[in-house]
Amino acid sequence: MSEDFDAVVDDAQSRAVLGLAWGGVARFAEMLADQGELRGLIGPRELPRLWTRHVVNSAAVAQFLPAEGSVADVGSGAGLPGVVLALMRPELDVHLIEPMERRITWLSEVVEELDLDNVQLHHGRAEELHGRLKVSVATARAVAALDKLARMTLPLVEPGGRLLAQKGRRAAEEVSRADSVLRQLGGANVRIHEVDLLGDGDVTRVVEVLKTR
Ligand SMILES: C[S@@+](CC[C@H](N)C(=O)[O-])C[C@H]1O[C@@H](n2cnc3c(N)ncnc32)[C@H](O)[C@@H]1O
Repeated sequence: MSEDFDAVVDDAQSRAVLGLAWGGVARFAEMLADQGELRGLIGPRELPRLWTRHVVNSAAVAQFLPAEGSVADVGSGAGLPGVVLALMRPELDVHLIEPMERRITWLSEVVEELDLDNVQLHHGRAEELHGRLKVSVATARAVAALDKLARMTLPLVEPGGRLLAQKGRRAAEEVSRADSVLRQLGGANVRIHEVDLLGDGDVTRVVEVLKTR
């Protein structure tokens, strides 16, 4: 790790958030800092805030994950939040779903480098896995508005499981627009959690939807 990068990732707050996974997550962030822009995974303007805004931010979902079971991260892209969650919760089976070939190639390199034996990659769209994959929880970050996201993800969730979608400031608006779609798909008990992971006022919203049937 370069000294500069080391200084950025080695802060007490992110160590507290990531716990034992900190080292693996820091290595993942280092890979992204090295190659993310070159490989079209992250915009150049995002690089300075790669660690806080993207990598550590992906941990916001972890506290809502079940004690055991499986997770499908839909539209995983560079591996956010799926790779971070797989590192934090090695006892969960994590499926990363991503249609873009070069992103799947990247994810397979990350899985190998980080020795992630709880991760399975799926090259394709989430819809192609409907009826073939069922998980306890679907996660998604920056993939689609909640109504579209619900159509993509809820068919992957087993009854009693949940969708955990990372959303921006418009989370409440997206929830009201998705109301009828959620009902059609057996989504209920919608809650919006506001998470300030690093205690710096930068709030991430996690929309939680229970799948009833
Ligand atoms: C803006 S990127 C976000 C990537 C990552 N989740 C993040 O937070 O950085 C959206 C990703 O969703 C993927 N995607 C788009 N439609 C999809 C679908 N129907 N099923 C699965 N992934 C999809 C895209 O290929 C892209 O990698």
